[in-house]
Amino acid sequence: MLEAGFVIREVTAPSGQAEALIVANALNGPALEAHTAALATVSAQAKRLETRGGTLILLQDTGGRFQPDDERAWRSGLTGLARTAAQEFPKALVRAIDVDIADLGARSASDRVVEELLSGGTAPCIGLSAKGRLGPVELALGDFTPQTAQIGPQDVILVTGGARGVTADCIIELARQTGARFALLGRSEITPWPADLDPSTDQKALRGALAARAKAAGEKITPAALNAQARALLSGAEIRATLTAIEQAGGTALYLQADVANPTALTPALRQVEQSLGPITGLVHGAGVLADKRIAEKTADQVAKVFTPKIAGLETLLSQIDVNELKTIAFFSSVAARYGNVGQADYAMANEVLNRMAQKLKAAHPDATVTSLGWGPWDGGMVDATLKAKFAEMGISLIPREAGAKVFTEALLAGRDCPVELIIGSEIAHG
Ligand SMILES: NC(=O)c1ccc[n+]([C@@H]2O[C@H](COP(=O)([O-])OP(=O)(O)OC[C@H]3O[C@@H](n4cnc5c(N)ncnc54)[C@H](OP(=O)(O)O)[C@@H]3O)[C@@H](O)[C@H]2O)c1
Repeated sequence: MLEAGFVIREVTAPSGQAEALIVANALNGPALEAHTAALATVSAQAKRLETRGGTLILLQDTGGRFQPDDERAWRSGLTGLARTAAQEFPKALVRAIDVDIADLGARSASDRVVEELLSGGTAPCIGLSAKGRLGPVELALGDFTPQTAQIGPQDVILVTGGARGVTADCIIELARQTGARFALLGRSEITPWPADLDPSTDQKALRGALAARAKAAGEKITPAALNAQARALLSGAEIRATLTAIEQAGGTALYLQADVANPTALTPALRQVEQSLGPITGLVHGAGVLADKRIAEKTADQVAKVFTPKIAGLETLLSQIDVNELKTIAFFSSVAARYGNVGQADYAMANEVLNRMAQKLKAAHPDATVTSLGWGPWDGGMVDATLKAKFAEMGISLIPREAGAKVFTEALLAGRDCPVELIIGSEIAHG
């Protein structure tokens, strides 16, 4: 039997094992810790939920409609977990409940949660607030009218993850259409290409060439070191190619080596942007990492890899940039946030935080272009050969790089009326 208050995390059956799991970790606390703890709690019970079913309740306090316009938006990622859990635990009932504790008060809020649980409701997402029992805010995913935003050569756009992958494709196209200045942020060094190695974009071939080179020089090198060398050379070459392509497209480009989630690295990087290019007028947050594993198999390390660039990265950015000066804010999110995806609970959560933060920022800055782009899989970037084969098997076609870059640019140039959340699949449909 549940009691009032939010201390109960598990309802334990006589067998000693949880039949229902009520996850309350994300009701308060900093975003990164709250999401990490919630996912760890579910992961610890995942095998049982997978095999025997049961009930999984994910509690959040985000205003009772899953869309707070205050700081609670940082803790809005649980629906990404709920949608993924529903797919990974088909035998279980998975529900996300948003209870507005600030509005209801702790006592009444806990009574309402208990009432909801005992009433036997099954709605996957339900909000409880003084306004009643409501579903999530309906999202406008409509189309956009092109070309109302003024982005031009005077603009300085900070792009996390912009030197590589699909974000780079998008920025090259934006440079072509605006001639703006871009500061690209990434962790990789621009490793110089050795003069005695032929250019290559194929990691396997490059590893072979590096091994042959080491052998000829009488050096011993481990396979791990060979891989690391090859990756560093390819990253460096990709960054150089992006910088050249932006300049050739009519823009200006500067690369800064910094981890977006590390405040002490970000501060000097931002200072350098201002000194070299001018005040920042736009932010594109494209940094992201994948570490797919089912919830039952997620490790703390994998989860941190996924959460850090998206959640901690955005926190760090927003603490160091004057958002009032931004005309444009764009986040690279994923369809996984909206629909869930097996193996991507953490990724869905992190991207849902981006979606909800975009809505919060738009509410505070209605004249800015603010959009969170919920991409389907691209033919590039983090979609490697293994993932491509998986998508082909599932009959899912990929977003062509050029077409995706054009949609991105259209969205950003749509200006203040651009929908705050977009869903973009291979058919390049908006909404
Ligand atoms: N490709 C897709 O199909 C797809 C689909 C949906 C959403 N997205 C989103 O689109 C974005 C770009 O994806 P992608 O496919 O281009 O991936 P990618 O090729 O792996 O590129 C990711 C980029 O993020 C940077 N990055 C990662 N962690 C960082 C950190 N802590 N600080 C600074 N930069 C960091 C990487 O640079 P360093 O490694 O040098 O740091 C790299 O430039 C991601 O946010 C992803 O979630 C992609």
